[in-house]
Amino acid sequence: MFDRKQLVNAISQQETPVYYYDLSLMQQTLKTAKRAADVHSFHVHYALKANFNERILKLIRDAGIGADCVSGNEVRKAIEIGFHPSDIVFAGVGKSDREIRDALSHDIFAFNVESIQELKVINTLAAAQGVKARVALRINPNVDAQTHHYITTGLDENKFGIAHWQLGDAVETLSQSEHLELIGIHFHIGSQITDLNVFKSLCVKVNELNNWFDERGFRLRVLNVGGGLGVDYHEPDAHPIPDFSAYFSVFADFLERKPGQEVHFELGRALVSQCGSLISRVLYVKHGLKKNFLILDAGMTELMRPALYQAYHQIEKLDTGEGTGHDAELQRYDVVGPICESSDCFGKEVLLPSCERGDLIAIRTAGAYGEVMASRYNLRDEIRYLYSSAPVDVSAD
Ligand code: LLP
Repeated sequence: MFDRKQLVNAISQQETPVYYYDLSLMQQTLKTAKRAADVHSFHVHYALKANFNERILKLIRDAGIGADCVSGNEVRKAIEIGFHPSDIVFAGVGKSDREIRDALSHDIFAFNVESIQELKVINTLAAAQGVKARVALRINPNVDAQTHHYITTGLDENKFGIAHWQLGDAVETLSQSEHLELIGIHFHIGSQITDLNVFKSLCVKVNELNNWFDERGFRLRVLNVGGGLGVDYHEPDAHPIPDFSAYFSVFADFLERKPGQEVHFELGRALVSQCGSLISRVLYVKHGLKKNFLILDAGMTELMRPALYQAYHQIEKLDTGEGTGHDAELQRYDVVGPICESSDCFGKEVLLPSCERGDLIAIRTAGAYGEVMASRYNLRDEIRYLYSSAPVDVSAD
């Protein structure tokens, strides 16, 4: 699906670095995810934090997927793009008063509330506006997501959510808060989760807590289990679309829904990662005593994941059709950027066909947490984009 020829043609006149988005693959991915969710009548929200590029957001809106926001600006952006407020949820451990007021005035579907203090603040601000806020309690289930510790969010040591031992107090606060309506419970245990058994463990916790609320007379309408489904960074071409069916089936099989309960998801990475690549040119090839360095015009300022999480992204040389492609002799390179930091490295000892100045390099699976985490450090250029040919209408097939 990663059409190298089309890409090389499109890019030949383009300045690099540039984010390339394959919008057809994006549409296929969205359609596959939506269909797999619809089988179980699950509701899917897209976590804007993964990528808030407008072209992408519009495709997601058109696919009938809702929005999961973590800042007032994301809520605004979602509304601007045309997501219906009743499809928008708002999470985050540190919502400011202004952000809460704004979201209240848009009458969004729900606030995912992360502390008892936040419940009180939302109640006060809702009272001042004369409205009632729908809230879901984000509960920290203490489930290990078996992923990188920087993107683990559901353990007791993490800052996220309300601890289970505080639920009594939370319920007490809710009963005294006339401007809050408890609609559900919310969880998000981490990101880039590739072992589906982790989600089974989450279901067990959700079931326990669902019963806990039921026993106390709360009829929860929503079970929101967050996001976290991982993607294949090692073999993007073999798995361009994550196995959404298997993922949703875990929840269909292991979640004990009570009559009328809705199940909501907040997927980010799985919906957009494989559709994006960072395309860069080789500026210099530096032969060292111990190493060869490939110095690219892209750096950690465009894609921060390798520097921040030691994340793996497949790196490939794009064959320009001049016989320098995959049949060429392989060399080992440390593939680095131009930024003044030693952590500005995309991969060590990467095997690539012999490269020279001007060659095009693709860093794959960069559609999620790539462009959005870019920075202007070293006063770098603004991010550039290139999109695959206009998306096809896949609604008919
Ligand atoms: N819901 C909540 C409450 C979240 O905190 C997140 C991600 C998501 C949903 C979406 O998770 P996903 O489906 O994308 O795994 N920058 C890191 C990832 C940080 C994820 C933060 N929360 C990275 O590049 O790996």
